[in-house]
Amino acid sequence: MALINLLTKKQIEVLQSYLNDDWKYLILNGAVRAGKTVIDNYLFLLELKRIKQLAEREKEPHPQYILAGYSSNSIYTNVISSIENQFGIVMNTDRHGHYHLFGVDIVPAYTGSVRGIGAIRGMTSYGAYINEASLATHEVFQEIVQRCSVGSARIICDTNPDIPTHWLKTDYIDNHDPKARIKSFSFTIDDNTFLAKDYVDALKAATPRGMFYDRSILGQWVTGEGIVYQDFNANTMVIDDKNIPDGLSYYCGVDWGFEHPNPILLLGDDNQGNTYVVKDFTKRHKFISYWVDIAKRLQTEYGRNLIFYVDSARPDNLNEFQANGINAINANKNILPGIEYVAQKMRQGKFFIAKSASKGLLEELYQYAWDEKTGEPLKENDVRHNDRLDALRYAIYSKNKKGGFIPWN
Ligand SMILES: Nc1ncnc2c1ncn2[C@@H]1O[C@H](COP(=O)(O)OP(=O)(O)O)[C@@H](O)[C@H]1O
Ligand SMILES: [Mg+2]
Repeated sequence: MALINLLTKKQIEVLQSYLNDDWKYLILNGAVRAGKTVIDNYLFLLELKRIKQLAEREKEPHPQYILAGYSSNSIYTNVISSIENQFGIVMNTDRHGHYHLFGVDIVPAYTGSVRGIGAIRGMTSYGAYINEASLATHEVFQEIVQRCSVGSARIICDTNPDIPTHWLKTDYIDNHDPKARIKSFSFTIDDNTFLAKDYVDALKAATPRGMFYDRSILGQWVTGEGIVYQDFNANTMVIDDKNIPDGLSYYCGVDWGFEHPNPILLLGDDNQGNTYVVKDFTKRHKFISYWVDIAKRLQTEYGRNLIFYVDSARPDNLNEFQANGINAINANKNILPGIEYVAQKMRQGKFFIAKSASKGLLEELYQYAWDEKTGEPLKENDVRHNDRLDALRYAIYSKNKKGGFIPWN
């Protein structure tokens, strides 16, 4: 069978570079679902074969190799189970948690925290495969590089883009010094010719414009610029209170504050994935008893099980709510995934605000801008408030996270 039936053009390019070029680092970066991990998994197997032969020549009976990924879960889903599916190879761990294939001892390392690399400390590795490399802490990445101390050791990585000042971009991908022997390939989603056209079209249409689109679809290392919620449109998304449907599935978002405004937002979802902001109870300089009263009133009106997703920064307030029989739980405060989730609702036209609840939200929406240095929204200050938007994100993201709404998560 011709290679082009098995691999995309871009993957063939990578394979040819793997086979013919002189490299120490081979870095695949770019869009989601672009075919990076599939080809890297194949290169990983080729590396293991190469290493086994090399070790035999060097009379090394026990060659070791590092398989790194953000967490044990992500290594399993992205690499191990994909290899099992792609190639029908079954990989089990031994009592040390290592995998064994083609006579090579494969040591997993978790790059999300320094603790995750205990297993590779002091090790001499014939190479490493690092999945989702930009998520690795810099220290862990450097430790892996140092462990690859066998003369001909090589490192293959794949990664999605991050901020342009990320160390992986500046120190490696942009390093064209021939002595560094770094080969990098940038993928866009259109490089993956195995994806169905309507799937790709739907993904493009649903991806919020701006940073999320430029990174996920185009594969660019960009930071956010300008307004965060670019797809928000007051003309279509702020609607008369009488047009908010009844009988929604209601829930609340809470961002604690005293000097800063303290919002409680009441939201409701219908069963088509539309989300409505129904009421906004934001006030400053109120003590917890005031908020308990509001929450109890809402409970009376919307049911005892009404969930309040609250800012986890004030466990005392959470306790007070719970002690008063209010169904309050800590919100998921993951910033970028949360924003992406809310932005996607806007992009898809599934987000609405009741006119009576819109004034403060509109003010915040129009000044909620990216910090180009950090790649996250600009922090609050005297003129800028994001309190309602935080409460909004806590509520929407926490409620829906498990639903698997974003197709590639
Ligand atoms: N060579 C290929 N042959 C068949 N399907 C492929 C191939 N490359 C990629 N795919 C499909 O595209 C999906 C996304 O590829 P993947 O490598 O996981 O993307 P990325 O790592 O860039 O996010 C895979 O799950 C698979 O279904
Ligand atoms: Mg991948």
